[in-house]
Amino acid sequence: MSAAEVLRDTHATLDVARIREDFPILRERVHGKPLVYLDNAATSQKPHAVIDALVDYYTHYNANIHRAVHLLSTRATAACDTARDKVRRFINAASTDEVIFVRGATEGINLVAQTHGRRNIGPGDEVLISGLEHHSNIVPWQMLCDEKQARLRVVSIDDRGVVPLNEFEEALSERTRLVAISHVSNALGTVNPLADMIQMAHRWNVPVVVDGAQAIPHMRIDVRALDADFYAFSGHKLFGPTGIGVLYGKKALLEAMPPYQGGGDMIRSVTFEKTTYNDLPYKFEAGTPDIAGIIGLGAAIDYVNDVGMEAISAYEHELLEYATAAISQLKGVRIIGTAPNKASVISFVVDNAHPHDVGTVLDREGIAVRTGHHCAQPVMDRFEIAATTRASLAFYNTREEIDALIAGIRRVQEFFS
Ligand code: ALA
Repeated sequence: MSAAEVLRDTHATLDVARIREDFPILRERVHGKPLVYLDNAATSQKPHAVIDALVDYYTHYNANIHRAVHLLSTRATAACDTARDKVRRFINAASTDEVIFVRGATEGINLVAQTHGRRNIGPGDEVLISGLEHHSNIVPWQMLCDEKQARLRVVSIDDRGVVPLNEFEEALSERTRLVAISHVSNALGTVNPLADMIQMAHRWNVPVVVDGAQAIPHMRIDVRALDADFYAFSGHKLFGPTGIGVLYGKKALLEAMPPYQGGGDMIRSVTFEKTTYNDLPYKFEAGTPDIAGIIGLGAAIDYVNDVGMEAISAYEHELLEYATAAISQLKGVRIIGTAPNKASVISFVVDNAHPHDVGTVLDREGIAVRTGHHCAQPVMDRFEIAATTRASLAFYNTREEIDALIAGIRRVQEFFS
């Protein structure tokens, strides 16, 4: 079914007014105005179901996991096991052994760089990334390449913010040891043709690490259909708590990797002479994990499943088109990032107004957007700008909120004309 067909089909089921009632923060007022929250790419808001799951854990069964036979600990352990299986099903991983809990997408990528990367990359090898990447999918590879005298190779983006697929393919070679690529750009909203890119990399037997931070709240992710080797995302972008994220990895790769950090829970046995390591996924989870975060992430996944990811994607697609058309009609406003396939992000610049000033004026209208380089300075350099204003959408946003944004931008223009 096309996005438009799904939308027609789901108009009745995606009751945004009702959904908004699930998010208490959306009733807040900012500077006396109703909050218009358009900074979802930075972090998303939390439904009652997630907040309640955190309160329930801390109120009724707060205890450490995997460490005791008492009831509270066994309950907390079971809740974390259940949450891990919810993640597995959500991304269609084959096994919970392939679901590693980390702090967020950033830690997931660093984990791969420091373990798989350190073991498999040497002098003269290449790590291939794109010009779209967030700093968290640049700097860990830069650090690794510096350490190993390897080369960080970058496929540039075109004027629309697209990674040209032919250039990506041409950049792969016998020197490439790893590809690290975002699924969706946080700064521009470009959706990469990930399945094609992964297939191309696999023709060279090169594993692919996907930064899925901006894709996970907007589209169904099937790591097996994509054939992704690693897929990292953050819970807080998926309506879950901050401090928890997931690194998916194919079992054979994870098994071949050395541990990331040493400590409790990641071991099978320890003597001063020798330590043996625990099985997956615990081998990569040293120390007490973010138990509340894991449980909260499980609740967020339940919530998203109840709303329905296909309905979310279709609704957001329509809202993005509405916002893009409205912003395009404003004289003196330029959208940065015009890829044909985009998800939920509109970056723009306003003539004669610095993005920070745009953000400040919008804030006085109750509208929350992000301004700056969005942790993607090379993207800004590519467009020869220092910063943009970025509106980023979630399924609880409405056309009325986009209208408020447009009125806010007009106000900015009055200010700076
Ligand atoms: N990576 C997040 C953003 O794009 C913080 O805003």
